[in-house]
Amino acid sequence: MTEKDIVPYRPGLEGVTAGISSVSDIVAEENRLIYRGYDILDLAAHAEFEEVAYLVLHGDLPTRSQLETFKAELLKHRELPSELYSVLKNLPKSSNLMGALQVGVATLGAMEPLANDNSHEANLQKATKLTAQMATLVANGWRILQGKEPTPPSNSLNHASNFLHMLFGKEPDEFYGKVMNLTFILYAEHGYNASTFTARVIASTLADMHSAVTGAIGALKGALHGGANEAAMEAMLAVGTPDRAESWVLEQLGQKKRIMGFGHREYKTGDIRATILRNYVQKVAERAGDMKWFEIQDIMQKVVLREKNLHPNVDFPAAAIYYMMGIDIPVYTPIFAAARITGWSAHIIEQHDNNRLLRPRSDYNGPRDLAFKPIDQRG
Ligand SMILES: CC(C)(COP(=O)(O)OP(=O)(O)OC[C@H]1O[C@@H](n2cnc3c(N)ncnc32)[C@H](O)[C@@H]1OP(=O)(O)O)[C@@H](O)C(=O)NCCC(=O)NCCS
Repeated sequence: MTEKDIVPYRPGLEGVTAGISSVSDIVAEENRLIYRGYDILDLAAHAEFEEVAYLVLHGDLPTRSQLETFKAELLKHRELPSELYSVLKNLPKSSNLMGALQVGVATLGAMEPLANDNSHEANLQKATKLTAQMATLVANGWRILQGKEPTPPSNSLNHASNFLHMLFGKEPDEFYGKVMNLTFILYAEHGYNASTFTARVIASTLADMHSAVTGAIGALKGALHGGANEAAMEAMLAVGTPDRAESWVLEQLGQKKRIMGFGHREYKTGDIRATILRNYVQKVAERAGDMKWFEIQDIMQKVVLREKNLHPNVDFPAAAIYYMMGIDIPVYTPIFAAARITGWSAHIIEQHDNNRLLRPRSDYNGPRDLAFKPIDQRG
């Protein structure tokens, strides 16, 4: 490599193009998000998560018969192998769900007959299975950690409603099923974010899909990425009441702390996913008969915008919605993972289909030419 081939270092790789992809496009200056050519506004308004999962994985919207076949395939894989339930039941009850999710996906990978087949066809099969299994892993994984029995998946409910059915162990409210469907769609895919990039780096070594997904779950866990939805809810709970919202935000900013659920590397004038979900914070609050979290969000949004010129990202409204639906906070980031499995898989497939090892360089800033001292002459 010659000097002219070396791209200057950019902290956080900001603005660096690290690949070419046809899975999604973030048009930040227009506040648009596009999955495989379709605007997220249209998908959010009209689609079922299963259609979007098919779109993200296969590259186009399904016909009716393609959708039926895909749904049947998902249904077939909703239940987890009994060996995996044994693994989950053997985890200490104090385990965290993101860790359990990694254990779950790694276990499925260890048991997967097609594990070492990275062909397009095998990868699609594994992605479809994982899309079905991850929802069960999150819902029933959480139940097991709570000391409850897993709920057998439904054969009739769609993906999002079945998720709620398994999590709560009862028939879900129809409206909440629709809202869950929407958040699954909005969380499905988002370009070269940290967890997707992690998945692609792992896949680029020719490691298998389950290994790449296990790594991606780890990257998603952090509060600067998927963990922000849980951190945002903890922040709202710390605020407590609308009258404390402004002073709480000012106090945090005064201490140079970040307000979780705000800001984004790509979007600087607003995250379209947050705009879509904002209406649903209001609708869910009205349905729950308590406007408190809507009002707290309203004030926090105005103050963070005024003080820092930062907009909420998708995690901020999603957190309040999940909370009002009665979902326990440690399940929020795992839900994100259960939706993002589609995007991760699509990127892993794209990587394997046209692979080159992802291996950047670093600039060394440590010492050189130190004289070696025998151990009894050191310090
Ligand atoms: C997502 C995030 C990491 C993107 O940040 P980025 O583009 O890399 O920007 P930086 O981390 O370099 O921050 C730039 C400046 O904005 C500030 N900032 C960014 N997000 C902030 C937030 N949520 N609250 C307060 N200040 C914030 C930083 O403190 C920094 O200020 P400084 O220049 O005075 O030090 C960042 O906005 C963040 O930490 N948000 C909170 C976590 C979150 O919601 N993550 C989910 C993303 S979908």
